[in-house]
Amino acid sequence: MGLKGVVLAGGTGSRLRPLTRVTNKHLLPVYDRPMVFYPLRMLAEAGITEIMVVTGGECAGEFIGLLGNGEEFGLERLAYAYQDGPGGIAEALGLTRDFVADDDVVVVLGDNLLERPIAGAVQRFREQDCGARVLLKQVPDPERFGVAELDDGRIVRIVEKPTEPRSDLAVTGIYMYDHSVFDIVDDLEPSARGELEITDVNTAFLARGELEHEVVEGWWTDAGTFESLFHAGQLVRDSRLGDAETGA
Ligand code: G1P
Repeated sequence: MGLKGVVLAGGTGSRLRPLTRVTNKHLLPVYDRPMVFYPLRMLAEAGITEIMVVTGGECAGEFIGLLGNGEEFGLERLAYAYQDGPGGIAEALGLTRDFVADDDVVVVLGDNLLERPIAGAVQRFREQDCGARVLLKQVPDPERFGVAELDDGRIVRIVEKPTEPRSDLAVTGIYMYDHSVFDIVDDLEPSARGELEITDVNTAFLARGELEHEVVEGWWTDAGTFESLFHAGQLVRDSRLGDAETGA
């Protein structure tokens, strides 16, 4: 079974207005690169060579100008899909069904950055029989994210942006799914905000007893708010300068 990659780079970027009034959030700079470079590189460095970027809005064409055929990232194939309207992360994932075909898929939200490579987690996902694998990270502000509750080392519940989080473990925007994920997406109902939620996808795998997880090492951040965008730039800059000092 092959493994493909998906970068979800749609959305309206409403939390970053006016920065996103005339451009897409994922084209904004994070230190010295456009934001979307980071998830693409994350997947490419994990050995994934066929990736689809899902985007939307008026600047969707800019992604082709920026990323072209993906050669710069060492990709064999870079495909694009267009999401019409704010239907949610899970709806965007549904648009990749024909591209992923019978393979499994690693999905990365286009505003997520990690310090360390995901190659190890991807390898552990490849070794698991079926189902899903999510990456968790302790955060000081879990109410901003999907939050996982663990019992006896297994996820027992995921709550999207809880007002009273029952743990400090955020579900990061890096998800690994077998191809049954597309049947799950087909069966989803829109949430109260009218979107198909990725947390509902993960909860469906959980209900089947097929949701594995690991806690990532090193830093993780999103970049979808002014504070996190600023912080992401600082984290990238610090690691880049650190690498230069150690010659990495
Ligand atoms: C999304 C997911 C959330 C996840 C987060 C990670 O939230 O819905 O579960 O923890 O990404 O970045 P969003 O940032 O789109 O509101």
